[in-house]
Amino acid sequence: MAYQKVKGTNDFYDLDSKKLRYIEGVVTNIIKDYGFSEMITPIFENTEVFVRSVGEASDIVTKEMYTFLDKGERSLTLRPEGTAAIVRCFVENKLFGTPGIKKYYYFGPMFRYERPQKGRFREFHQFGAEIYGDASPYLDAEVILSAYRILTELKIKGVKLKINTIGDFISRENYSKALKEYFKDKLDKLCDDCKNRYNKNPMRILDCKVDSDSDILKNAPKIKDFLTDEAKAYFNTILKCLDELKIPYVVDSSLVRGLDYYTDTVFEFISDFDGLAICAGGRYADLVKSFNGPDLPGIGYAFGVERVKDIMEEEGLFPNLERCVDVVIISLDDDSKISALNLAYNLRKEKLSVEMDYKNNSLKPQFKLSDRVNPRFIVIIGEAERESGIYTVKDTINKIEEKVKLDKIVSFIKGE
Ligand code: HAM
Repeated sequence: MAYQKVKGTNDFYDLDSKKLRYIEGVVTNIIKDYGFSEMITPIFENTEVFVRSVGEASDIVTKEMYTFLDKGERSLTLRPEGTAAIVRCFVENKLFGTPGIKKYYYFGPMFRYERPQKGRFREFHQFGAEIYGDASPYLDAEVILSAYRILTELKIKGVKLKINTIGDFISRENYSKALKEYFKDKLDKLCDDCKNRYNKNPMRILDCKVDSDSDILKNAPKIKDFLTDEAKAYFNTILKCLDELKIPYVVDSSLVRGLDYYTDTVFEFISDFDGLAICAGGRYADLVKSFNGPDLPGIGYAFGVERVKDIMEEEGLFPNLERCVDVVIISLDDDSKISALNLAYNLRKEKLSVEMDYKNNSLKPQFKLSDRVNPRFIVIIGEAERESGIYTVKDTINKIEEKVKLDKIVSFIKGE
C-alpha cells in the first residue's frame, strides 16, 4: 500500500516525539558538561566513507546499507552509523589543526536494512559521542563513565557493561592468523557469508548472526590469548579505573563488535530488560589516518535512542510530558481577542507556550480547547478586564484563581 510508512520505520508524534526530544535534551545536557560540542553531518555520504571504515566484510556494508546512485551516477549511502561520517567531517574540515583533544556529539537518524523486530529498525536514532587526540586508558575510562552517567541520569537500571579488548595491531595480526588457522578446515560447516569473511577479515566470522550458536564459533580462539603485554597493561588500567569508580562490568572475551574500525577497547551496555545493547562503542586508533588525516586516535560510543525509549516506557521513567501548553487565553469579545494576541505575544517572548481560540467569543468552546491542551494557566479577558487592566488568571494545578494586573501577568505565570 503506497501511503503507508516504509517497513522498519517509525512515525513520532504527540507524546512519542516529546519522549524522543526529552531523551535528546537530557543526554545533550550531560555531554556538554564533558566539553563536547555538536556536529551535524549530512544524512547521506559517498558510499566509500562507510565501506572503508566499517569494513567490506561487515554485515552493515555487505547487507544493510541503503546505497543508491544519484542522477550524476555517484554512489551515495544513507548513513548506517555516525562515527565514519564524523571522522570524515573532522578530517575534511581540518578540525585537528589546533592543539588538544576534540570532542563531538551527534543526535540523528541512521539507516540499516535489517530485519525489523523489537528494538531493531531500518530507520533509528543514535546519540553518539566521539573524542579525538588521546590514547590513554584514563580517557577510555572517562568515556565509559560518561555513558554510565547518561544511563544513571535517565534512571535506567538493570544494565550490564560488557567490556573487552581486541588489542593493538600486533595482537590483532596474531589473532587473525590464529583464526584463519582454526577455521581453515571448518569452512564447509559455516555459512556462505563466513567463507567470504574468512578471506577479508576472519574476526567478522565471530559476529555472524547465522552461525552464532555453533560450537565452532564458541570454541574459536579468544583474543585474550594473543594480546601483547602493552595491550594487556592498557586494558588492565581501564579495569582498575572502573573498579575504583565502582562501575560494575563483566569482561566478555568473545566481544569483538561488528565494525572493522575498532582497536583495543570495545564495550556494550546490555539491558536486562530485553538483552539488547542500548549503547556500544570503543576505541579506533587508525580511522582518522585512514581518511587521510593525521595519526590521531579516536574513541566513542552511540546509544540507540529507540531502545532507550522502550526501556524508559517499560519502567515508567519519563516525567509527565503530557502538558504541552503553559497558558490558554480565553477572550470574550472581539476587542478582547486583540488584547489576547498582545498578551500571547509577550508571554511567548518569555518562552511560554500559549494557545487561544481565534473564532469563538463564548466560554464553552474555549473551555473545550482548554480541556484538550491541558494548560498550566488560563487567562480570561472580557470587557471588564480590559477596562480595569486586571485579568483573571486560573492556576490549573493548585486550583486557585487570582486577579492579576496586566503588567504583572508574565512574572506571575513565571512564578517570579
Ligand atoms: P552499533 O553497535 O552498530 O555501533 O550501534 C550503536 C547502538 O545503536 C546499538 O547499541 C543499538 O542500541 C543501536 N542500534 C544499532 N542498530 C539498530 C537498529 N537497527 N535499530 C535500533 N537501534 C539500533 C555504532 O553504530 C558505532 N558507530 C558506535 C560507536 C561510536 N563506536 C565508536 N563511536
